[in-house]
Amino acid sequence: MSLPKAELHLHIEGTLEPELAFELAARNGVTLPYADTDELREAYRFEDLQSFLNLYYELMAVLRTERDFEDLANAYLARAAAQGVRHAEIFFDPQAHTSRGLELGTVVEGLWRALGDSASRHGVSTRLIMCFLRDESAESALATLDAAKPYLDRITGVGLDSAEVGHPPAKFREVYEAAAALGLRRVAHAGEEGPPEYITEALDVLGVERVDHGLRCVEDPALVERLVRERVPLTLCPLSNVRLRTVDTLADHPLPAMLDAGLICTVNSDDPAYFGGYAGDNFDAVRGTLGLSEERLRELARNSFLASFLEDDEELRAR
Ligand code: HPA
Ligand code: ZN
Repeated sequence: MSLPKAELHLHIEGTLEPELAFELAARNGVTLPYADTDELREAYRFEDLQSFLNLYYELMAVLRTERDFEDLANAYLARAAAQGVRHAEIFFDPQAHTSRGLELGTVVEGLWRALGDSASRHGVSTRLIMCFLRDESAESALATLDAAKPYLDRITGVGLDSAEVGHPPAKFREVYEAAAALGLRRVAHAGEEGPPEYITEALDVLGVERVDHGLRCVEDPALVERLVRERVPLTLCPLSNVRLRTVDTLADHPLPAMLDAGLICTVNSDDPAYFGGYAGDNFDAVRGTLGLSEERLRELARNSFLASFLEDDEELRAR
């Protein structure tokens, strides 16, 4: 589906397609514990978030140089552009790389080589959002923010991802306060596998402007009312929810009811190499299976630009 849209929930490491993983493994002398891309694809059967994260972190071993991060981002931007993405706010997970001995600069400079040319090369404007791994300590998040200070001209905001349950947003109060003081925008994953209370905490304690996923708000009518009233955008990822078994089937996805309730929903791909589709594929899936009208699809696309961190004039140009 080539409706112009912004993608607001996309982990760049989750765009690593099996073919590129093997190419980078060969280039870097890394041995993957899979014979070929078919065998690797066989491993893409997930029980839950953690079973996905295990593979997601394992495959990152092939990312070693600036050029690897540049190639990864360029491959994503080309695919996104072909599916109508005009603007992408891209998450990356610095701790998943620095814990393997990479410098933060290798990651940021590499990604920036692709992002810096993206508007002219792919017709996609970009922002970079640095995520903290919530299953790591608050001290590690603070050290990561500190290490990012030389690169803040390239980083628009901070986010929070990885294993959610047992790692409530409040754990990261201090680092989000520090990020806000540095002028960074704030988002966080909440209510994917974790309870609705984590969504409330992300808003009240971390001061987030958007909630990533936020799906489980539907369990709490008062919270839905608040999100509608305060116009808090949610970055939903329907194919991700199916693959990680957050919903039983796509037909059970609450997106139509969420739109009817007045929530500002957006549709995104999360980790498209792993979950069976890029942004346009997610739009196609919700149109086909959930029977969303053209008007609803246009609303989703409009929401994606309104909820983005583009300035007003940039936003109008991107649309
Ligand atoms: N949820 C939490 N953390 C993640 C995800 C996700 O879907 N993808 C990559 N890191
Ligand atoms: Zn995510």
